[in-house]
Amino acid sequence: MRISIFGLGYVGCVTAACLSREGHEVIGVDVNELKVSLLNEGQCPIIEKGLPELIRAGRNQGRLSATTDVSEAIQSTTVSLICVGTPSQANGSLDLSHIKQVSQEIGVSLKEKESYHCFIYRSTVLPQTTRTVIIPVLEEASGKQAHIDFDVCFNPEFLREGTSVHDFYHPPLTIIGHQTARGASTAAELYESIPAPIEYVSYEIAEMMKYVSNTFHALKVAFANEIGTICKAIGVDSYEVMRLFCMDTKLNVSPAYLKPGFGFGGSCLPKDLRALVYKARDVDVYAPVLGSILESNRLHIQRAVDYLVRKRVKKVGVLGLSFKEGTDDLRESPTVVLIEQLIGKGFDVRIYDPEVYLAKLHGANKDYIQREIPHIATLVSDNLPDVIQSSDLLVVAKALADFDRDVKPFLGDKPVYDLVRIRPQLTGMPSGYEGICW
Ligand SMILES: NC(=O)c1ccc[n+]([C@@H]2O[C@H](COP(=O)([O-])OP(=O)(O)OC[C@H]3O[C@@H](n4cnc5c(N)ncnc54)[C@H](O)[C@@H]3O)[C@@H](O)[C@H]2O)c1
Repeated sequence: MRISIFGLGYVGCVTAACLSREGHEVIGVDVNELKVSLLNEGQCPIIEKGLPELIRAGRNQGRLSATTDVSEAIQSTTVSLICVGTPSQANGSLDLSHIKQVSQEIGVSLKEKESYHCFIYRSTVLPQTTRTVIIPVLEEASGKQAHIDFDVCFNPEFLREGTSVHDFYHPPLTIIGHQTARGASTAAELYESIPAPIEYVSYEIAEMMKYVSNTFHALKVAFANEIGTICKAIGVDSYEVMRLFCMDTKLNVSPAYLKPGFGFGGSCLPKDLRALVYKARDVDVYAPVLGSILESNRLHIQRAVDYLVRKRVKKVGVLGLSFKEGTDDLRESPTVVLIEQLIGKGFDVRIYDPEVYLAKLHGANKDYIQREIPHIATLVSDNLPDVIQSSDLLVVAKALADFDRDVKPFLGDKPVYDLVRIRPQLTGMPSGYEGICW
């Protein structure tokens, strides 16, 4: 393919050199004349392991060149990758000036072009930027229509400086945010030789994915450092702790606990978190990441209360009471906290939870129920249709029932507020359906 790459920084240089090694003809574009002339001399404008060799080879084989001339680059290629910088502004917001500028210049050159062109944005931008900023600028400057006259894709970059050449050839996955099949298949052609799955998604998911990944990486660093500091203060080998921690790929370093849903609870998580945060304070370690987790959980439960208050319903049916499926354990259940708040605000609450219903009649939990939450226990029923029918709104707090078989037939047009994502696909959900964080 003939490819132009806008922005010869870390991402642009690595992408240009690696794609030229794969046999593509690549022309780099930058406003910085020094970078352009260095690349044309076969020299590497940045320090990056393995890159000088690739750039020299690309130059020698005549597959890699650079220019400051936008029009030349657009006219002589069919695909452009946009890798210009998106720095922070003083207030933390994203500076889109380079993205807007380059899109404007590209659009003007596109005006003169008769044949097809596909623009693949790799710069990190917040969700909606491709749709509401980039495409309007391209359309305005070119006088052409996106998705018809040209295509736009958003393809986030996951390379890490220092190992970026290796990362280019070994990505965990390739994500192509797209609007047309033509754009998606053009973008996919670039990665034909890369042994990684390709995921085709909307622009917004592709844009968000990059932020979620980097935020999580940052969270992991801060988490490990706070744990390390507490360990050091109490004389525990943090390296050994984290080595063992990472050996658990079932619950710790895994997809477990990473699904958006309701708050955590139960007899262990809140208690153990409180004890560790208290211990940190006791040894004078300020650990704001760990210290903010319980507050985040409390706010999440409050979010559900606020939603129900806003709905202005009176009778609420709650499906599930214990802190998770398969247990009657009610200790620190976020649903108990939710229901207590609802009762306090005058809601008429009915609860369906067969596991708790049985436990309140007999079993080890009977005492706890009678002692701690007698006011809630009396509201628990084992009759699901009855709970649904006597409510104005149904809250799903535990996936106790098959939604389509057991719930939907009794719903009518009642709204449903889902805290657990009762089924992965939301197609066919009633019109009054709302998820807590999806
Ligand atoms: N550096 C990384 O490791 C990394 C990894 C993944 C994603 N990203 C994202 O990729 C983007 C680029 O990052 P980078 O580190 O390569 O940036 P960079 O600052 O190193 O390079 C950006 C280049 O764009 C050029 N440029 C600016 N305006 C231009 C224009 N109108 N036309 C042509 N060139 C122009 C600049 O001169 C510069 O050479 C950013 O959005 C960044 O967040 C970076």
